[in-house]
Amino acid sequence: MPNARAGSLVLFGITGDLAKKLLLPALYALERSGELDEPIVGVARSDWDDAALRKRTEEAVGEASGEVDGVVLARLCNRLSYVRGDYADSATFATLKERLGEAAHRAVYYLATPPPVFTTVAEALARAGLNQRSRLVVEKPFGHDLTSARALDAALCCSFDTDKILRVDHFLGKDALAALFALRFANLLFEPIWNAEHVASVQITFAERLDVADRGGFYDSVGALRDVVQNHLFQVLAHAAMEPPDTAAPRAMEAERTRLFSAVRPLARSDLVRGQYAGYRQVDGVKDESTTETYLALRLEIDNDRWRGVPFAIRTGKCLPADLLEVAIALKPAAGVAGLEGPGGQIRLCLEPEGRWRLDYLAKTRGPGMAVVPLHVQGALEASGPLRPAYQVILGDALSGSAAHFPSQASIEQCWRIVDGVLDLDDAPIEYQPGSWGPPEADALAEGGWLAPGLGERGARVAP
Ligand code: BG6
Repeated sequence: MPNARAGSLVLFGITGDLAKKLLLPALYALERSGELDEPIVGVARSDWDDAALRKRTEEAVGEASGEVDGVVLARLCNRLSYVRGDYADSATFATLKERLGEAAHRAVYYLATPPPVFTTVAEALARAGLNQRSRLVVEKPFGHDLTSARALDAALCCSFDTDKILRVDHFLGKDALAALFALRFANLLFEPIWNAEHVASVQITFAERLDVADRGGFYDSVGALRDVVQNHLFQVLAHAAMEPPDTAAPRAMEAERTRLFSAVRPLARSDLVRGQYAGYRQVDGVKDESTTETYLALRLEIDNDRWRGVPFAIRTGKCLPADLLEVAIALKPAAGVAGLEGPGGQIRLCLEPEGRWRLDYLAKTRGPGMAVVPLHVQGALEASGPLRPAYQVILGDALSGSAAHFPSQASIEQCWRIVDGVLDLDDAPIEYQPGSWGPPEADALAEGGWLAPGLGERGARVAP
């Protein structure tokens, strides 16, 4: 992608939830850090005007950021204006052109809209001649299976060159993923043991306390596999398991992520346990007989020299007892000296809510004899500094023209390939109680049971 600074930012779907909860607060963060320099136009069908957009921005920023700097917020609001229009109407794009002048030709067009209008907007931009030097940013879901992802890409590529299309997976914008990568490859303590010779199993847990809230209609057509596994958690997997790239350049990183995905064996039905929390079917927009999973646990294998034979397990769910994103590496016991036997060590990485890592190891007890007991050390995953929300990184990159935090079409297709055989299962998911860790049937998917999450104590295995 050409590394040219955009002349303007256009947000389609500015009146929606994504804009309110994530994009507008991210723009405020960019304004505060001095990374914003362009006019911003919001486009949507609602009968709003500039004042309504500014009011929404003030509300959104107030709700998302504890302390608001009034001067920064006013600066952001001054950049904003609103265009009301239908996405299929050429008049909408004529108005945009007029509003932005030359900057419309080197804009970032961000589609925070429902997927059915992605191609409508892309085609209209192309017809208006706004596709030459501009970039198109598309939110997930990028298709709903491998075939539709290819069809969507083909359709978008009729309007924009492929290297001008940025596909958002906001987990790639999380600093914690880069921190995991850095911990692995910057430390001789970790890198040499990060393979099948020394690792017994790997587990990834992404737990959310929240239910599907007011997103019932959207969520019911998607489920946990499409919502967070095929995209977000596979990106976590990639950072935990990829090979070192030649350089940390975006292209090299993405090539290694794609190579990792292409080594993952396709999932079979027996690799999955699906759950649904009690009460889900009563949520607005959810079908009475819905078989959509709000919890998913799976095991997978990576067929490459580093990982062949190591079981990987991923689990995620809504209404679980904690909010966290963790990677746990169970090490094999050391083939050491007789009398020093003990359980294998563990490396646990808490990516969220706070970036920390913990190593459990064996140490000798004081006194005579050579008995060993588990001890641990732990530390921060990142050096201190301002915490950047993922969408600040994504929007910042889109504006500056960096492809660093966007997945390529090739890697998205690989991720769909892995899950393609287990999408749209219509067998009933197992019911679980809100506030529990999901169906106990999922325990059998993790080698030896799931490690108890949280870095407070040694991750005892939950017996299957
Ligand atoms: C979104 C999913 O893509 O990611 C949500 O649609 C999920 O269901 C969210 O809650 C998680 O992202 P984050 O950044 O809040 O961990």
